[in-house]
Amino acid sequence: MCGIIGYIGEAVAQPRLVSGLQNLEYRGYDSAGIALVDDDLAVFKRTGLIGDLALPEDSDQTCGIGHTRWSTHGKPTDANAHPHTDCSGRVAVVHNGIIGNYDDLRTELSEHTFRSETDTEVVAHLVEEQLATTDDLRAAVAAVLDRIEGSYALGVVAAGYDGIVAARQNSPLVVGHGGDGTFIASDVTPLLEHTREVSYLEDGDVALLTGTEVTVWNDGAVVERPTQTIQWDADAAEKGGYAHYMLKEIHEQPQALRQAIAGRLDPVEGSVDLDLSLSPAFLSGLDEIQLVACGTSYHACLYGKQLLELLADVRVTVEVASEYTVGRGRTPGRTLVVGVSQSGETADTLRALRMADRTGIRTLGVTNTVGSTIARECDDALYIQAGPEIGVAATKTFASQVVTLALLSVAVADARGELDPSQARTLLEHVEALPGAVQQVLDRESAVIELAEAYAGGDAFFFIGRRMGCPVALEGALKLKEISYDHAEGFPAGELKHGPLALVTEGTPVLAVVTDGARPEETHNNVKEVQSRGAPVIALVSEAAGVEEFEVGFPVPALGVLEPLVANVYLQLFAYHVANVKERPIDKPRNLAKSVTVE
Ligand code: M6R
Repeated sequence: MCGIIGYIGEAVAQPRLVSGLQNLEYRGYDSAGIALVDDDLAVFKRTGLIGDLALPEDSDQTCGIGHTRWSTHGKPTDANAHPHTDCSGRVAVVHNGIIGNYDDLRTELSEHTFRSETDTEVVAHLVEEQLATTDDLRAAVAAVLDRIEGSYALGVVAAGYDGIVAARQNSPLVVGHGGDGTFIASDVTPLLEHTREVSYLEDGDVALLTGTEVTVWNDGAVVERPTQTIQWDADAAEKGGYAHYMLKEIHEQPQALRQAIAGRLDPVEGSVDLDLSLSPAFLSGLDEIQLVACGTSYHACLYGKQLLELLADVRVTVEVASEYTVGRGRTPGRTLVVGVSQSGETADTLRALRMADRTGIRTLGVTNTVGSTIARECDDALYIQAGPEIGVAATKTFASQVVTLALLSVAVADARGELDPSQARTLLEHVEALPGAVQQVLDRESAVIELAEAYAGGDAFFFIGRRMGCPVALEGALKLKEISYDHAEGFPAGELKHGPLALVTEGTPVLAVVTDGARPEETHNNVKEVQSRGAPVIALVSEAAGVEEFEVGFPVPALGVLEPLVANVYLQLFAYHVANVKERPIDKPRNLAKSVTVE
């Protein structure tokens, strides 16, 4: 996730910006930069480490903005690093989030000189146009915000303007009130060495920071944002106040999902735009799509297969990447291999993709990591835009992978002439509602904590589900075993009676996905099977169906085939809190690595 810092006050800005960026390093970054401003603007930016920036030794500006970039739009290059500037080099912008309509805006701004491939740069040029009509930087930025769609935390400075303008929409931004100046930052971490007095901007806020004051507008009117005193130590602050990165990343899912879909879908039209070079002719000629991945990404593929088959009438196979072989009868030109990998570096997935490529089969990488080997080597790359994931146990990237595959399903169905417009509209409406539904589950965390405390002593844990509930059952079990070290198994619910039922006792909690998209009636029968053997059942149930029939039931907001994905958030929280009760090293479980680069 990118990081933002900004300072204006009595002190020299450069050292404050540099140490601020260093305190944001934990968020992950591939490039960094700062802009220093007085009557002129000076920008220093490049790929690599903050320490690699060629900064002046004697700067005296007292205002500036800085950024650490984790690539989403455009590769990690010097030109794509922030801050971005306008044609005149007098306006500088740092940005977290995604400008969904940047393509259209860039076309409209065709007379401007663009120097990067980023979505952010349009903001600098739009501010430039506004400054031709007003000498009020805050008013200029506010007018630009009316033109842009998507999510943003923005910091804007301009030569000759005394102040930093900040704005927030669906991407966090905090203001710091220090003794000798004021700050903006993407989180409180870089502020703590200067101040603990902060206020959080809200969606729609535009703030003007001078060295002594911060004024905030929302919808054109001045508003108050209360000052709060931060009690966290620096370590807790890095984790956003959460005890572990995993928990922070679980809670980041609404934001990660918004980023995954920003600017990519039109629910009214029932269409998506993924900016891929796969032609409709190629997609409509496909006999088969092969999905290959490992671990959590493999589970996302099992979910994605069902979405693709539901919408696009194409045969889809899913293989654990380490077991992949192209298979007989696969024809280049009629087969597409999709490698799904958070890191983009997993050796098994890379091997499978290279094998397909050698056979002449077209490859698509679905990854979180711009510039990763899989992104570079595949014929096409589709980014899930979840932001960096630090906890070894994958959480937010699973949700972002599934939702990205859902969008891909619509695109493939459309290209093949198989798109049922009403089915597509319903799915995309559900995709848009997904961040809110996930938030509703997160808001019930205290009930999941009680559950985890009550069941942490289980001998073993079973997870069951059908259809799209099945990959979620497998994922729930993987999460629990990875971080709690408990024995946990996921099964297609119908398979229980073919063997695993022999293991079920009163000491085996069974977590069941009983939602839409998971054949709830049949799964309910399997719930009764295990209940009659004395096993405690924890059911995740469609809100519409009601939880009353279950001794322990958690409601899942109505979301059709995406309900199992929402149910998964309960399972993530359950795994986390069971492991927490057992005091496991949750972010770095024994024997496991975040990125597995050996076969
Ligand atoms: O980076 P990738 O998505 O390719 O990683 C694949 C697996 O190694 C990964 O999902 C692993 O299973 C996680 N630890 C699961 O939490």
